[in-house]
Amino acid sequence: MIGRVSRTLGVTGLAATPKPPPVEIVPAILVKDRRALGLRLEAVAGVAKRVQIDIMDGRFVPNRTVAPEVLAGLDTPLKLEAHLMVKNPLAAMTAVGNNAAAFLVHIETCGRGTKIDGRPSVAELAQKARDLGASFGLALNPETPLEAVKPHLALCDELVIMTVKPGFGGQPFKTELLGKIREARRLAPTLSIAVDGGIHEDTAAQAVSAGANLLVAGSALFRDADIPAAARRLLQAATAT
Ligand code: DX5
Repeated sequence: MIGRVSRTLGVTGLAATPKPPPVEIVPAILVKDRRALGLRLEAVAGVAKRVQIDIMDGRFVPNRTVAPEVLAGLDTPLKLEAHLMVKNPLAAMTAVGNNAAAFLVHIETCGRGTKIDGRPSVAELAQKARDLGASFGLALNPETPLEAVKPHLALCDELVIMTVKPGFGGQPFKTELLGKIREARRLAPTLSIAVDGGIHEDTAAQAVSAGANLLVAGSALFRDADIPAAARRLLQAATAT
């Protein structure tokens, strides 16, 4: 019994406070064709372990990007996170196949269940991700309350808090969402929480101090002539105490 208690309490005898995963820069790639995608993947090779590829269908968001099928054929050492900003996430997941390390589905596109309202539920979509060998995350738009994802956190490997209206890069960070990040971290102390939209050297530190550990950055990296240096500066700014 003592052994079990000491293992639980650790050497100090105090319960260890759960820690979020380490801070990481995740390049966001928002492009319209395979060639541009290839160039961006090359540009961030060695800069990051994973990249987020924006998949937009022109229906859930007013923009279109590379089709999900393009990810199926990609050969890259980078872990691909498919950020599905699409009306039909199940079809997109099927099109990507088993080439994604993660599928990030918008809660706004999840239904109550195929057999109930004809739209796959969070549980069905999470299962599909796992069947394809990928982890599963939920993304929520700025206007979507955390309550929408709260019941599903146990199914998530990642939560993506959008700090811009999805569809386009280069938008300003919505600082009014810092409270939402803090609340998400309070609800899920060890979950990977990504912040997507308007991340640059000034906002990265705010996002991390609010509790985010994945900083999804597009224009802050790709507008810079020296992407590795930009990524290093961003990480330094994010983790400066
Ligand atoms: C929104 C996109 C953007 C993009 C990141 O639809 O998901 O958040 O990837 O763009 P920046 O970093 O330029 O805001």
